[in-house]
Amino acid sequence: MTRKLYVKTYGCQMNVYDSTRIIDILAPFGFIESDKPDDADMIILTTCYIREKAAEKMFSELGRLRSFKETRKATGKETILVVIGCAAQAQGIEILERAPYVDIVLGTQNYYRLPEIVMSPKRHFSDLDFPSGDKFNHIPPPTANGVAVFLPVQEGCDKFCTFCVVPYTRGTESSRPAAAVLADARRLVATGAKEIILLGHNINTYRGISPDGTGYWGLGHLLEVLAAEIENLYRLRFLTSHPCHVDESLMKAFRDLPGLMPYLHLPVQSGSDRILTAMNRGHTAADYCRLVERLRQACPTLALSSDFIVGFPGETEADFRATLDLVHNIGYAQAYSFKFSPRPGTPAAQAPDQVPERVKSDRLVRLQRILSAQQKRFNTTFLGRDVPVLLDRKGTLAGQLIGRSPYMQVVTVKAQENLLGKIVNLRIDRIRSNSLDGTFVDSANPAYTVYDEQCGQRRLQV
Ligand code: SAM
Ligand code: F3S
Repeated sequence: MTRKLYVKTYGCQMNVYDSTRIIDILAPFGFIESDKPDDADMIILTTCYIREKAAEKMFSELGRLRSFKETRKATGKETILVVIGCAAQAQGIEILERAPYVDIVLGTQNYYRLPEIVMSPKRHFSDLDFPSGDKFNHIPPPTANGVAVFLPVQEGCDKFCTFCVVPYTRGTESSRPAAAVLADARRLVATGAKEIILLGHNINTYRGISPDGTGYWGLGHLLEVLAAEIENLYRLRFLTSHPCHVDESLMKAFRDLPGLMPYLHLPVQSGSDRILTAMNRGHTAADYCRLVERLRQACPTLALSSDFIVGFPGETEADFRATLDLVHNIGYAQAYSFKFSPRPGTPAAQAPDQVPERVKSDRLVRLQRILSAQQKRFNTTFLGRDVPVLLDRKGTLAGQLIGRSPYMQVVTVKAQENLLGKIVNLRIDRIRSNSLDGTFVDSANPAYTVYDEQCGQRRLQV
């Protein structure tokens, strides 16, 4: 008997990965993914807890889903409502109390237990145990669900930045064995992946036991082996790095591996040393700038993105200006910025000198104005240039395909569907606010411009 499954995901790439895996886990039990919640036999919310807004959204979504559940119940049909992810881990008991119509709550390490629980008669169930790093032994091997896919290599974080809930919701750092990562990567490429994005909450602390069991591999070595050994893997990326753990082997990877895309997400959070200390980041603004300089020496085409928090407790106008100075110094291709959100149980939430909401809002607007100008400037440098684009989905317009440049820019092109999944060479002829428009360099013969193995890995000159 087939049953419909609706999955809604909030938050980061790790949650996106967890959602794809829970779909894989449930498939052998007859659950087929549906894009509508109203007629689903099971609804899963993969939740985020990083900022207050994310947690609030979950409760309002649960309220909406309750009505679907009740409407179906009136017609004699059951809807199993499941909450997984970081908010489930942090607030599992509260969820069952505030939303008693939720059937099952599972933590970030236990969602693989869902089939067993669904099949059992006991429905009001929660499991928030924390056997960190163990779940991969219970999840079936992955199959690519597209041409650009996520592959977790590390989970959890030991950095305990004073604003962040990740060490509490995802646990302490654990790295997957290198052999398991290589096996997953091979399977992903064999099932259609052309780009692999390695995931970890603090990925550059990766320390996976080596395949022969005699030592450990760091991230740089892992990237080197993936690039050398996996045929038809054209692009590699990794997320998210901490500035304190960028070592020589990572520099070397950026210098030597043509398949490693020249784009690094390296969150700095603030440009003020006082605030960086209060955040427990473990580095100064100058350390960060020096690191970026060394990375750019190793890989002159490297572009950077970052995360920023404005209005951290005690942040003065001078501290905020130091952040603006750092942004001007570095010059980002892209960035995410947030108002500080006090999170339960984190030290910064209890700090006495909270910044008023209107000051936070004002600083966010000012920072974002500069960051979007930098992004626009970066994108404008691509006008008239040829860029290799991995076409990974259909566009909303008829005959349109969408892909990503090496710098994660979204590029749209009029193209035939048979080019979906290919890396093509496109000339950028228009810059829009969130995307670039491309055309085939040889429009008479678009297939000619499909990159072969060699070209697909060619580096761009910025
Ligand atoms: N290393 C992590 C990762 O996997 O991407 C970063 C954690 S978090 C998912 C992403 C970003 O959210 C952080 O870099 C930080 O800028 C922001 N963030 C985390 N806690 C926050 C808070 N309490 N208030 C505002 N922003 C926050
Ligand atoms: Fe969070 Fe800091 Fe770790 S931002 S994920 S505690 S590096």
